[in-house]
Amino acid sequence: MSILKAEQLSKTYFQKQGNLLHKALHNFTLNVQKGEFVGVMGPSGSGKTTLLNLMATIDKPTTGKVILNDQNPNELNNQDLALFRRREIGFVFQDFNLLDTLTVRENILLPLALDHYKLQEMEYRVNQLASLLGIEGILEKRTFEISGGQQQRTACARAMIHEPSIILADEPTGNLDSKSAKQVMDTLTTLQEKKGATILMVTHDPTAASFCDRILFIKDGRFFSEVHSGGERQNFHQRILDTLSVLGGVYHEHPTSR
Ligand SMILES: Nc1ncnc2c1ncn2[C@@H]1O[C@H](COP(=O)(O)OP(=O)(O)O)[C@@H](O)[C@H]1O
Ligand SMILES: [Mg+2]
Repeated sequence: MSILKAEQLSKTYFQKQGNLLHKALHNFTLNVQKGEFVGVMGPSGSGKTTLLNLMATIDKPTTGKVILNDQNPNELNNQDLALFRRREIGFVFQDFNLLDTLTVRENILLPLALDHYKLQEMEYRVNQLASLLGIEGILEKRTFEISGGQQQRTACARAMIHEPSIILADEPTGNLDSKSAKQVMDTLTTLQEKKGATILMVTHDPTAASFCDRILFIKDGRFFSEVHSGGERQNFHQRILDTLSVLGGVYHEHPTSR
């Protein structure tokens, strides 16, 4: 069952200097099945963040259509769109985006609190999810008392607590050392395998990408190719590296780069 469909998406940015039009995305089509973990890779400036922002309903396509859970978010008014985004999507950002005045428990609960869930239901869900992800021990800590890897695992729990249709992750391991990155990828994989999460992740890290079921490669705003896992991570990792070397371009991304 397809949970996310993007049909023939194009995005043109109007750049004031010189009145130039910049086509960041050309006729990009994408289908994500329920329960799938899909990666997006491509050089800097190839349109990955643009694509994710369109899926996130943060930005609207110039042409083409996005369908998430049988709904077209771009047909909603602003108020319904905000609600749609909160309920249907979970976000994981490169820089974690946790609130440092709240504890880990309160951060994870936030999407439920905003939707006025009953206290008992909230506590049940957070305890269950924390135990699944092995973060029970840090629930009462504040963000400055835990490591970057623990912060990102907290962000993953927050992205799943309301059981959204999809989790969108933009470079979730971009600010982490390789050991923490592996733990975050294990966390996302656990959410997929044990909670049925559907995940779309942008990454430039071939090791992180090797946890996905398949990778879409994008170049100059266009679909370039697709590589499927086949289940054996080492072999998949090698085929990802091979594709990246054919793709060319620059891959290093800073937290502030788009
Ligand atoms: N708001 C914007 N206005 C104008 N151009 C933009 C804007 N956002 C992105 N771009 C341009 O669109 C292209 C794709 O950008 P982006 O989607 O951020 O690429 P990536 O995430 O793959 O590095 C780049 O050339 C970028 O400069
Ligand atoms: Mg980007």
